[in-house]
Amino acid sequence: VRTQVGIIGAGPAGLLLSRLLALQGIDSVVLENRSRAYAEARIRAGILEQHSVDTLTDVGLGARLHREGLEHHGIYLQYPETRHKLHFPELCGRTVWVYGQTEVVKDLIAAQLDGGPPLLFGVSDVVPEDVDTDSPRIRFTDADGVPRVLECDVVAGTDGFHGVSRPLVLEGNRGRVWERTYPYAWLGVLADVAPSTDELIYAWHPDGFALHSMRSPSVSRLYLQVDPDEKIEDWSDDRIWEGLATRFALDGWELNSGPITEKSVLPMRSFVSAPMRRGRLFLAGDAAHIVPPTGAKGLNLAIADVTLLATALVRLLKEGQTDLADSYSDRALARVWRCTHFSWWMTSMLHRSGDDFDAELQLCQLRRVCSSEAAARELAENYTGLPLDH
Ligand code: FAD
Ligand code: DHB
Repeated sequence: VRTQVGIIGAGPAGLLLSRLLALQGIDSVVLENRSRAYAEARIRAGILEQHSVDTLTDVGLGARLHREGLEHHGIYLQYPETRHKLHFPELCGRTVWVYGQTEVVKDLIAAQLDGGPPLLFGVSDVVPEDVDTDSPRIRFTDADGVPRVLECDVVAGTDGFHGVSRPLVLEGNRGRVWERTYPYAWLGVLADVAPSTDELIYAWHPDGFALHSMRSPSVSRLYLQVDPDEKIEDWSDDRIWEGLATRFALDGWELNSGPITEKSVLPMRSFVSAPMRRGRLFLAGDAAHIVPPTGAKGLNLAIADVTLLATALVRLLKEGQTDLADSYSDRALARVWRCTHFSWWMTSMLHRSGDDFDAELQLCQLRRVCSSEAAARELAENYTGLPLDH
């Protein structure tokens, strides 16, 4: 089999890349090692920046997003006795949307299977080869156990943090990585209960950080800071609701509780791998970088990467010009580092380290963001998403 772009991984990055390319007349094949059901059920991010919404709308996937997604005009920052709203349109003229990554992925898969480029689930043993030449290929075993070869002009490594692409880019000291693991994790729950708030609440509390998010008018998404080695079995639903109620407590406000339908512990790390390219193999999304979730950048970065990459590949494959392909890694990494800084900063400001000096600095910074328009605007611009070439 032959295609122009062989795409490894059907997460948001790979699926959106395939669609962006198809709209420019470039064909691709997407190879995914999980099943469709698994890919559609994975609960992850929930916040889309304005540019992500615009990109999904531009590729014809805006209908359900605009019908079921919830446009948000700000967030609350909370610390003891204070809950302060940052109003994004006033601060930076932009908004964000609540629309689950599961929904984005479902929309992308449905569009792909409805006349889009081939998307193969359940493949295994995926190995990119000859990426230093102009005719790389991907060896893989299809869902029926048959070994196959996909000849291509370009390979896109959108196979997430544990994929096969990044090791190949880094092989033989070709690049380097930067990493920070944080001494805390998030316990995330999905609950069948109406959100108790109109906007997301990011709460600093002596017991640890808590975040109140949502997925729909009847489903809440909540997170609690816990130790990274915390066992989920030790957190009964009652203990989770009590912990959340304590951390969000504010006079005259109450947290609605309800049945918890999913719970898991998420590790937190920052990770950047550079360059995001080796020859004809290009990385995008979590394959190249991870941010801690505070600030909701992971999914948005993946979307920004493939938007840049699609433009570069169209220029390379339609016009034979290498300029945008050559500058892709540096341009993508500039935004990656901006988001890496923002996510690190939000994480550092909001999580309890156990050290009281740290706590006073955090509270001082929170008061600053809540009282200075300049400080609030800096948060708002980053949260809602900087323009693409940043
Ligand atoms: P992925 O979504 O990881 O997609 C990669 C795909 O490649 C997967 O489908 C995988 O099965 C497939 N794959 C892997 N290896 C192979 C292989 N060898 N062959 C073929 N296919 C392969 N971000 C936020 O902004 N907010 C959040 O709240 C948030 N929560 C998260 C919670 C969890 C548990 C995780 C893991 C991530 C979370 N993120 C969050 C980050 C966000 O979900 C990611 O940044 C986003 O999924 C990146 O998209 P991607 O397409 O690059 O990677
Ligand atoms: C969600 C996750 C985040 O990391 C965040 O900062 C805001 C919302 C969420 O899953 O809804």
